[in-house]
Amino acid sequence: MAPRPSKGLADVVAASTAVSDIDGQAGRLFYRGYDIHDLAGKINFAECVHLLQRGTLPTRGELAGLTGELAAGRELTPLVRRNIEPVARVQSPMEALRSYVSLASGEDPDKDSGSPEANLRKAARLTAQQPVLVARYHAARRGVTAPDPDPELGIAGNFLLQITGERPSPRQADILDECLVLHADHTMNASTFAARVCAATLSDMHSAVCAAIGALKGTLHGGANEQVMRTFQAIGTVADVDRTVHEKLAAGEKIMGFGHRVYKSEDPRATHLRRMSAELAETTGDDLWYRMSRRMEDLVFAEKGLRPNVDFYAASVYRYLGIPVDLFTAVFSVSRMAGWTAHVIEQHADNRLIRPDSEYIGDHDMKWVPISERT
Ligand code: ACO
Repeated sequence: MAPRPSKGLADVVAASTAVSDIDGQAGRLFYRGYDIHDLAGKINFAECVHLLQRGTLPTRGELAGLTGELAAGRELTPLVRRNIEPVARVQSPMEALRSYVSLASGEDPDKDSGSPEANLRKAARLTAQQPVLVARYHAARRGVTAPDPDPELGIAGNFLLQITGERPSPRQADILDECLVLHADHTMNASTFAARVCAATLSDMHSAVCAAIGALKGTLHGGANEQVMRTFQAIGTVADVDRTVHEKLAAGEKIMGFGHRVYKSEDPRATHLRRMSAELAETTGDDLWYRMSRRMEDLVFAEKGLRPNVDFYAASVYRYLGIPVDLFTAVFSVSRMAGWTAHVIEQHADNRLIRPDSEYIGDHDMKWVPISERT
C-alpha cells in the first residue's frame, strides 16, 4: 500500500539546504546560521545578497566588489529595453516581471553556461536588474522616464527614487533596505520550491526564476501583501475593521496576511515590520494603516488564534513609503531574487531531478469504446 500523500506537501522535507532555516515552534529564522534578529537593521541588502548567494557575510573588499557588480549589472539588455513599454501596456506587474526575466535570458552574457561561476554572475545580474525592471515598468505604464539612479544611494534608496520620483530620506531608504533583508529567503516556500523544481531538470537560472515569479504572484504567497492593503482600503476606517473581520470569518473567507504553514508562534519578520509600520505611522503623521493593522491583528488572533505573517505589516510599510499598491508583490520579488538564485546555485551544485510520486484517485479498468458509440 502506497503512503498517503501529504496535501500541500505539509511536513514533507523536500530538499536539503544551507541557505536558510526556520524553527517554526520558536518563531526563529536564520540565514546561513545567522539569526534574522541579528541581521535586520544591521546589514544592508547587498551584504545579504552576498551572504545568501556566496555563503558568507562579506568583508569590506568583498562588499565593494559585489556592489560594483550589482551597479554594472543594472544595465538592461536591448531586447528587454525594447519590450518594457509594450509589455507594460498589457501585463500586470508580476506578469510583466516574468516576461522581462524571460526576455533577459536571451541576451545574458552567460546564456549558454550553467557553470558555478556563470551562475554566480547571473545571480548578481538578476538581483541587480529586478528593481530596475519594476521601476521601468512603472514609468512606462505612466508614460514617463524613471529618474537615473544616484550612485550615492544604495539598492533600496534608488528603488524608492525611481518609483516615487522623489529622493527618499536616509531613514526611508534604510527601512526599505531592512524590508529587503527580511524578505530575502525563507527555506522551501512555494516560489523557491518552484525554482528548485525547475532548476533540478538542469534548466537555466532565468527559467527557474520565471517559475518562481509565477508562484510568488499568487495571493496565498507573495500576492497577499497587495491584498492586505486592498482589504484596508475597502474597509476605510479603524471602526469598520471589526465588522469586516467578523463577516469574512463567518463566511469562511481567509484574511490575507495571517497564518503560516511553518510558524506556530510569531513570524520573526512580522516583529520587525510591525515596528517599522509604527515608526512610519508616527513620522508621516498618518496612523490609519497602522491602527487598522493593530486592530485586525488583535481581532484575528482573538477569533482564530492566527498571527500576522510577513505580508501583513509589509503592506502598511510599503504604503507609507509611497509605493503603489499593485507593486507590493513586485517589491517582494526584488528581495526574494537573492534567495531564489541562491537556491538555484545550491540545487545545481548537488543536483537530482525532483520528481515526487502521486496517489492515483481516478477510475480503474475503463473500457475503450469507438467515438461513434460514445454518448
Ligand atoms: N484567515 C482565516 N483562516 C485561515 C487563514 C487566514 N489567513 N489561514 C489559515 N486559516 C485557517 C483555514 O481556513 C483552515 O481552517 P479549517 O481547518 O477550519 O479549514 C486552517 O486555518 C488551516 O489553513 P490552511 O489553508 O490549510 O493552512 P496552510 O498551511 O495550507 O496555509 C497559508 C498557509 C496559505 C499561509 C494560509 O494561512 C493562508 O491562506 N493565509 C492567507 C494568505 C497569506 O497571508 N499568504 C501569505 C503567506 S506568507 C508568504 O507566503 C510570504
